[in-house]
Amino acid sequence: MIQLEHLFKAYPFGTQTVWALKDISVTIISGTLTAIVGQSGSGKSTLLNILGGLDRPTSGHYWLDGRDVSGFDPDTWAHMRNRALGFVFQSFQLIPTLTAGENVALPLVYRAVPLAERRSRAEDALAMVGLNDRRDHRPAQMSGGQQQRVAIARALVGDPQVVLADEPTGNLDTDTGAEIMELLRHINQDGRTVVIVTHSSEIARQCRQVIALSDGRVTEGGSA
Ligand SMILES: Nc1ncnc2c1ncn2[C@@H]1O[C@H](COP(=O)(O)OP(=O)(O)O)[C@@H](O)[C@H]1O
Ligand SMILES: [Mg+2]
Repeated sequence: MIQLEHLFKAYPFGTQTVWALKDISVTIISGTLTAIVGQSGSGKSTLLNILGGLDRPTSGHYWLDGRDVSGFDPDTWAHMRNRALGFVFQSFQLIPTLTAGENVALPLVYRAVPLAERRSRAEDALAMVGLNDRRDHRPAQMSGGQQQRVAIARALVGDPQVVLADEPTGNLDTDTGAEIMELLRHINQDGRTVVIVTHSSEIARQCRQVIALSDGRVTEGGSA
């Protein structure tokens, strides 16, 4: 379970301070398909990055499975990100010089998993996203939808409990975006918590929980 309590996030901006998140309290029960919605600049990415340990709150608490992770140091976070969390980004963020299989296996390199096991797990993950026949392709040799599938396979290869996706369909056409959403729903049905930042009301409609942000505050879906 994910619990945020009175979370604030400030960014320095010149001599000023931008409060990207103001007093956020939300609870996401494990296994819930959750959307974070709101206008551009409302704090969606900041919130997702804090959930994934890519950024730290300025104050407040973040409980992940009963542990207060707000104060974890960068090394502890790096370890936890690699094991417990998977990330999907709007721009895919694949490494262009690596094949699909190598991109997917990369998180396991950091875990010092032996090569043969990395290969077989990457193949399993690529099969899960329907891309077993693209293992040796490089990102530039694939469509946007295929690249996002590779990115999802990379997010899944470590078997995380939580998958965080920041506008995963934002660079894709409507039909391809719907396929990616179908895949994320499937991943959720396997029991994982999936949190999706989206502009799409169509995507939000498919999610069990919707957290709406406006100017850094929760306007819907927060906890008391
Ligand atoms: N690294 C940063 N430095 C300064 N301000 C930032 C930074 N990242 C985000 N912000 C500001 O925080 C607010 C929320 O940004 P963001 O979380 O990216 O919104 P969204 O993803 O909803 O578009 C915006 O006002 C943005 O300008
Ligand atoms: Mg954003």
